[in-house]
Formats: sequence, C-alpha cells, structure tokens
Amino acid sequence: MSFPSFFALIPAAGVGARMGSTTPKQYASLAGKPMPQHVIDTFASAPEIEHTYIVVSPADGYMDALHVPVRCTVLRCGGDTRAASVTNGLAAIAPQVAPDDWVLVHDAARPGLTADLIGKLIAFAKDDPVGGLLALPVVDTIKRSNGHSHVADTVSREHLWAAQTPQMFRHGALLSALRDATHKGYGVTDEASAMEAAGLQPKLIEGSPRNFKVTLPEDLPIAELYLRGSP
Ligand code: CTP
Ligand code: MG
Repeated sequence: MSFPSFFALIPAAGVGARMGSTTPKQYASLAGKPMPQHVIDTFASAPEIEHTYIVVSPADGYMDALHVPVRCTVLRCGGDTRAASVTNGLAAIAPQVAPDDWVLVHDAARPGLTADLIGKLIAFAKDDPVGGLLALPVVDTIKRSNGHSHVADTVSREHLWAAQTPQMFRHGALLSALRDATHKGYGVTDEASAMEAAGLQPKLIEGSPRNFKVTLPEDLPIAELYLRGSP
C-alpha cells in the first residue's frame, strides 16, 4: 500500500426534495442502474482508490438492492444535512484511515463521473498542500436578482467557477474543518467551503459538464444520455 492512500466517501443520504419523486432521487435508475451504483462502479474501476465508503441514512431501504463490490463498504450514518453525512462518514472511517490520507468526497447524485476525472483530480491535487476539487469555469452571464424576479446587477464571471465533486482533502484536516464550520454555524454545502472557512485555499481543477449534479426531473434524460454514451 502506498502512502498516503486515496479513499472515496460518497454521501447518499439525501431525500431529493427538488426532484419531487416518491423515492429518494439517488435511487432513480439511469442507463439500467441506480445513480449510486454508477458512482460505486466508477470508483471501483479507478486504480488509485484504496477503498470506497458510501454513507446512507440509517433508515435507508434501497441500498440492499445495490451490488457492493469487495473494496466498498456501506455506512448507515447519514445526517440531516450533507455536511453532517460527510462528517459522520469521516468519523466512522477514522480507524481505517490515517489523518494524512486523502479522501475524495463525491455526491451520489453525480453519476457522470469517470475514472479519468478521478485520475485527473488526484494528479493535479496530490502535491497541493491543501487539496482540491473539480469545478467548471462559469460560461453564462451572471445576474443577481433583487429577490423579486428582477435584476439587481450583473456579476462579472471573471474568476468564477461552479464547484463539482469529487473534492479531495486530507482526512484529518477535512474532519476538523467540517466540525469547526458546523460548530460556528456556517451552512457549508461542500467540503471546500469548510476548508476555506479554516483559512485555506483549495486548488481548482477543471471537471466536465457530464459530471453535473442530477437535481431536477428534467436532469434525468440528460444524465441518461451521458451514461449511455460512455463506453
Ligand atoms: N446528501 C446526504 N445527506 C443529506 C443531504 C444530502 O448524504 N442529509 C447527499 C445526497 O444524497 C447527494 C449529495 O449529498 O448525493 C448532494 O446533495 P443534493 O444534490 O442536495 O441532494 P438532496 O439533498 O438529496 O436533494 P435536495 O437538496 O433536492 O433535497
Ligand atoms: Mg440537498
């Protein structure tokens, strides 16, 4: 085993409120398998990844239908927020992972991830003192609303990136950054925000449009197209 090692942690304990379906969105079947299965299989095919952990809600009744490969473990410790699910997962794997090992946290709702993107993130972030994340430079003209459906102003898109996952940080640093952010009441929606709140500057690495987060019903056919188009 090389040191430091790379682990994957997949938060999959959400309810998918914006999808509006009766089953949690992460169990929607796409290209013949549920979203978390795509993500589990992709991490299993990435040679750099030592082990993959998937975090589901304690009451989850869907995970049993998935095929969990040898180097993958299901953790039933999901929390009320994504940050809580990730924090609980990181705490649960502490006995198996060294503080300096890298953890790649990836949304179950991003089934378009590929082993090549995982390799790219690792290659570009592993020598960074903090770590990094996949993200896309913003291409649209960005408007801020006045809160009532009218434009307040236009925000320059220069230097703006839209964050994706995986986000790759060292286990010990990430767990303490998330705990600190939660303790201070910051509503962090990704791992990088927690590291930023600790005064750190994660590296931005260009991801891919196919790695978008499936959020709304109209996202399902687009994700299906990307997944069926892959080899
Ligand atoms: N997630 C989680 N625990 C939570 C909330 C979210 O593990 N308490 C996971 C989701 O399952 C998903 C990822 O975090 O894989 C990204 O969250 P998001 O896309 O917001 O999914 P949901 O929270 O399920 O959707 P919504 O916000 O529409 O309810
Ligand atoms: Mg959510």
